Amino acid sequence: MIRTGLVRALSKLGESTSRAWQSTSMRELSSSTQTFAPVMPNFSYVPVPYTGPSAEKVLQLRKTYLSPSLSMHFRKPVMIVEGKMQYLFDEKGRRYLDAFAGIVTVSAGHCHPEIVKAVNKQSELLQHTTTIYLNNQIAEYAKELADKMPGNLKCVYFVNSGSEANDMAMMLARAHTGNWDMISLRNGYHGMSMATMGACGHSTWKQPVPQSFGILHAMNPDPYRGLFGNDATKYAADLQDLILTATSGRVAGFMAETIQGVGGATPLVQGYLPAAYKIIREAGGICIADEVQTGFGRTGTKYWGFENQGVQPDIVTMAKGIGNGLPLAAVVTTPEISASLTKRLHFNTFGGNPVCSAGGRAVLRVLDAEKRQEHCGVVGAHLLKRLNQLKDKHSIIGDVRGQGLMLGVELVKDRHTKEPAKDATVEAMERMKDMGVLMGKGGLFGNVFRIKPPMCFSKDDADFLVDVMDEALNKL
Ligand SMILES: Cc1ncc(COP(=O)(O)O)c(C=O)c1O
Repeated sequence: MIRTGLVRALSKLGESTSRAWQSTSMRELSSSTQTFAPVMPNFSYVPVPYTGPSAEKVLQLRKTYLSPSLSMHFRKPVMIVEGKMQYLFDEKGRRYLDAFAGIVTVSAGHCHPEIVKAVNKQSELLQHTTTIYLNNQIAEYAKELADKMPGNLKCVYFVNSGSEANDMAMMLARAHTGNWDMISLRNGYHGMSMATMGACGHSTWKQPVPQSFGILHAMNPDPYRGLFGNDATKYAADLQDLILTATSGRVAGFMAETIQGVGGATPLVQGYLPAAYKIIREAGGICIADEVQTGFGRTGTKYWGFENQGVQPDIVTMAKGIGNGLPLAAVVTTPEISASLTKRLHFNTFGGNPVCSAGGRAVLRVLDAEKRQEHCGVVGAHLLKRLNQLKDKHSIIGDVRGQGLMLGVELVKDRHTKEPAKDATVEAMERMKDMGVLMGKGGLFGNVFRIKPPMCFSKDDADFLVDVMDEALNKL
């Protein structure tokens, strides 16, 4: 009680003081007052003074002119006007630890200087022509991305979003196999276009309009909530049964994430993907790995999420972290599969434009130079350990899961019934925000903290996050 009160008081005080001081205020104030309030790691950066409209005005504009179906995290909205690496700043200069990275999108870090430099340099030279002329950026980028892929995944299509990438992948699967039925997983998320909404396995994300033509949803191999627990063979048997009973017996393909992001950082039972890929290929289909969230080393052990299950997909889709915030996405497949689309032209106005390509190339360089995959492994393992210790302390934590810097903490009212603690999740998130941590939320029932920060997130940040979560859960 006293501790939370103090943290709130410190936050309020911080809002009315000078900007330079605010960027390190949590540590200084906490130590000077000898409190036990969790202390945000120091960061000597002074945000640029914000001179735009107030948060209230922006909220009003948003309500009047933007889609009413947009959702906002937090009961009292946060306005973010600046970002530096793993930290965000609101309009008053208050610093937050970003544990969600613009929904798993800021991979290298907010406004990473190398990426900003590459984008600015290209912006001054040439921004756009499309692919009707030669340009070095898209060609060199395609090679550099293909070099990151295993096997014969050497043909790259650049698009602008994960939804577009998954649309494209499903079209390739259908064009290549001549079959129509696609299979995805319940609790999966693949985008908001008509086709990809159909592939999603979440009522939350399905508008009540006709969709899912030719898309079937297999049982989710979810180790925590799945009917068959950790038994990969039983989930694979369901997939086989689905093909035998709900399709002609021949399918176009199968699409899955390796850790379901929107679905609450839910990993697929180990051994499921090899079994599923075999079944799909025997039914004439091809296998698509949706790496929109799990790619580029975020899982720590491997560069691509699917490699953690030892499979080789026929198509890989990627977005989000590929551009560190630039509107950039890609589909990578084999030359044989891509040949299936040569009966007609295929075109995307912005896909791989020079600015995004220059930025995407810089992302690849930065992630390698800063050894971010290894870093995600080390920091992620530390964070996972600390979160599991928190689980021992708080019975409301039903499950701690994930890999690298792609982690989930599921809150339940009762560990036995697993009844989702939805309201408590919202309440705890709000408290964590008040203490300076911006957390993600997800899962079918909206009761999972999603921890997927920029990949430069440090061990100290991890400790701070866990201390803040502890404090927030203490007060529920
Ligand atoms: C796994 C996955 N696939 C696809 C998408 C769709 O990406 P976009 O929002 O860029 O269309 C998302 C978005 O959250 C995602 O998490």
